[in-house]
Amino acid sequence: MSDAKNTTQPTVIAPSLLASDFAHLADEAAKVAPEVDWLHVDVMDNHFVPNLTLGPPVVKALKAATDVPLDCHLMIEEPERWAVGYAELGAHNVTFHAEATDDPVTVAKNLRAAGSKAGLAIDRDTPVERYLDILPEFDTLLIMTIKAGFGGQKFMPELLDKVRTARSRIETGHLDLRIEVDGGIASDTIEQAAEAGADAFVAGTAIYGAEDPAAAALALRRLADTARKTDTQEGARPGER
Ligand code: DX5
Ligand code: ZN
Repeated sequence: MSDAKNTTQPTVIAPSLLASDFAHLADEAAKVAPEVDWLHVDVMDNHFVPNLTLGPPVVKALKAATDVPLDCHLMIEEPERWAVGYAELGAHNVTFHAEATDDPVTVAKNLRAAGSKAGLAIDRDTPVERYLDILPEFDTLLIMTIKAGFGGQKFMPELLDKVRTARSRIETGHLDLRIEVDGGIASDTIEQAAEAGADAFVAGTAIYGAEDPAAAALALRRLADTARKTDTQEGARPGER
């Protein structure tokens, strides 16, 4: 299994604000800022998923309130219409769902042209194989490890086969993109996700449900680093900013 691990990029830890106190988002961002790489922002439109969360005005306010790069996960219909707006607000990475559009490549090109990284999300019931050929258009591949829509669900280890498949294509194709996992990532699941080939880890409940969210994020980073790297390793630190 060790050949599935990518050890060239620093681990990214991305707390999901979905599990934080929405009345105090700036404070919740500040709590974790020293220990994390991205802030994961779950945008849900009550159509693509049944849940409803937040949209551009809140992302704009968050952007002004924190220096931590924003990782916007759009669980919305019509990403070809809405995704670029998040890039224009200064999101670091904008991920939309493969299931929500017939033309993911055009959306990715538009995101990059607008100045953000482009991410493709694959929900629980979607095979990854059909998207392997378009991975060069993307900077991030988000593999859901639950069904998208709600936080606090149980991690589904069988979905890590998609991570292994994608990691293998990335290695053989010498592609430059991250594999992010989202859903049920916690101290008892992050190592298996890392061993499968993930290098970016979203965690909502495991970080914001902890008494000390920053300490919880650091603990997750250490577990992921150890699982990803068996050779010499610089200590835990925020990766790319
Ligand atoms: C759910 C969201 C996740 C969610 C994860 O659709 O995409 O980002 O916040 O929450 P946990 O870590 O609690 O499973
Ligand atoms: Zn998410």
